[in-house]
Amino acid sequence: MYYPDDKVEEVLRANNIVDVVGSYVHLQKKGANYFGLCPFHNEKSPSFSVSEPKQMFYCFGCGAGGNAATFLMKYENYSFQEALQTLADRAGIKLPEVNYSEEAKRKEEKRQILRAINKEAAIYYYKLLRSPKGRKGLQYLADRKLDPATMRDFGLGFADGAGNDLVAHLKHCGYADDMILEAGVAAYDEKRGMHDKFWNRVIFPIMDVRGQVIGFGGRVMGDAKPKYLNSPETEIFDKSRNLYGLHIAKRSKAPYKILCEGYMDVIAMHQAGFHEAVASLGTSFTEGQAALLKRYSKQVLLAYDNDGAGVRAALRNIGILKKAGIEGKVIDLSPCKDPDEFIKANGKEAFLQRITNAENSFFYELRMMGREYAMSDPAQRTQFHHAIAAKLCEIEDEIERENYLAEAARRYYVDEGSLRRLVASYNRSGAAQTVWNNGAAPAGARRTEQQPAAPGRPAQPKAQSAKEERESRNEQLLLTWLADEPEIFDQVAQYVRPAHFTEGVHRNAAEGYWAILGKRDGGNPASVIGMFETEEEQEKAAALFQTRIRGIKDAREREKALRDIVIAIRKAAADRDRRRMEETMQEPTAEELSDMIRTRKELQALQKVRFNLTDAPSGE
Ligand code: UTP
Ligand code: MN
Repeated sequence: MYYPDDKVEEVLRANNIVDVVGSYVHLQKKGANYFGLCPFHNEKSPSFSVSEPKQMFYCFGCGAGGNAATFLMKYENYSFQEALQTLADRAGIKLPEVNYSEEAKRKEEKRQILRAINKEAAIYYYKLLRSPKGRKGLQYLADRKLDPATMRDFGLGFADGAGNDLVAHLKHCGYADDMILEAGVAAYDEKRGMHDKFWNRVIFPIMDVRGQVIGFGGRVMGDAKPKYLNSPETEIFDKSRNLYGLHIAKRSKAPYKILCEGYMDVIAMHQAGFHEAVASLGTSFTEGQAALLKRYSKQVLLAYDNDGAGVRAALRNIGILKKAGIEGKVIDLSPCKDPDEFIKANGKEAFLQRITNAENSFFYELRMMGREYAMSDPAQRTQFHHAIAAKLCEIEDEIERENYLAEAARRYYVDEGSLRRLVASYNRSGAAQTVWNNGAAPAGARRTEQQPAAPGRPAQPKAQSAKEERESRNEQLLLTWLADEPEIFDQVAQYVRPAHFTEGVHRNAAEGYWAILGKRDGGNPASVIGMFETEEEQEKAAALFQTRIRGIKDAREREKALRDIVIAIRKAAADRDRRRMEETMQEPTAEELSDMIRTRKELQALQKVRFNLTDAPSGE
């Protein structure tokens, strides 16, 4: 965190979120809140709300939410610092200078030079393509059916055969030799000295999410090898953390992105109106790229080449996406090789149809696995069914697993009951194996909640259980209630303290909000959001203050509902404490013991307490 919390709070307080959001989204007042069409997903009726008293926004459709800074981070793709700086400027507040170390300062200066060189090179190539010297390149791109507008959108350019023009141009601009080399646009050898890296190729500038050029890909205009030459990794070009086309795809409101293999595929899809396309940069797709994609979409459609290598890459990347928490689907391009070819051969309507029919990644995996077995042979069929069971074991959520199990049984003509028993047997052997692997589990150790594990693989951290979900829901309800009716804080604070919230975002948010309400100066939960730095955490925190509380009219029922929530939170916290103590199998310390006694007393008192609520809140 670069700025102190109180500075963040000051900046947030100086900006009314209704004005900030209102300059991007048309808002209409309805009751206590403002409503508009959500800029973060496609919708026809407004479910995007802005609360003036809370100084927060929330979309009941897609779950996007946060304070004014979060909004700018999402809308403008700003970092937290940039969003805060924008808000500070807006309110005429001066933010303290960020203190970079000398070394960090030098590094940043160097990165700026490398960026400037890449930008200058991109302009040089761009102009060359459109000059008499670039005729050959322009012809090549036209033969590949690219419109001038598409070429412009992607900044396509041309490097002619001279071999040294760009270096000469950059030197003329005043850039030093070592910087030109480090920018990746030139190479050095004894024979030729310093020379252009790219020559006689059409040039595809590679941009980061903000649209700044960080490198190039250059394609030969015939069949020579290598087909593409790419800039090396440099201090500004990390191939594992950038995606080709993302600076355009980030703006698409479709609920998915399309991940493909080639620069030309991205461009062809874009030209056909599919602005969601991105590609990796001549290297395999990485976890870093998955994390980057996740900031923009929770669903990714794979449009990989329809050959052995493409299928292998798709299967591998489904795993990477899953790990990042992204839902993967696979677009079938047959009988064509890649999206570029498909669109040329069949047109955009046909491609849209393939998008609509994209296959769920789980069944794609099963289908590809199925190719390895001869289904007419009972022994191989059996093996395949075992493989399906093993794959089902990897699904941690029980309901999800059941759904997939039923569908897999139907598709592959297996009896559902048999398949379920097979999965169960894998689970048991998996669990046994975990114990052996650790070797540490005491004999007869009490079994905790059943945890599915794939055969031979240790159990992974499980998804939220129903119980945890209930606990987290109660905490959310209480925080929202307090945000709606801050005047009841003193009554609630007698019984609930931040330590009673589950660890992580919930507890941190409670600590922040307790501090703000304790100050009694009319602070709102928006400042709590400002204490979290990533968009993901901000969104999670924002959701805590934005639950839909069912509009209970009856005052006595409302009072009871609040009491139930408070009691539930205290009981859950006490439960967690007790379990922790049991796990460590240690005698409670004196302090823990008095805590336990205090908890019991407070829980007893809670049964009889009557909260004094005001009228029903004006919101829902
Ligand atoms: P492809 O061979 O599928 O190329 O490589 P493409 O994008 O379809 O290009 P066209 O249609 O033949 O012009 C896919 C990606 O792999 C990387 C590039 O990023 C390319 O876009 N690649 C391929 C290289 O980096 N070097 C190569 O020699 C070939
Ligand atoms: Mn191609």
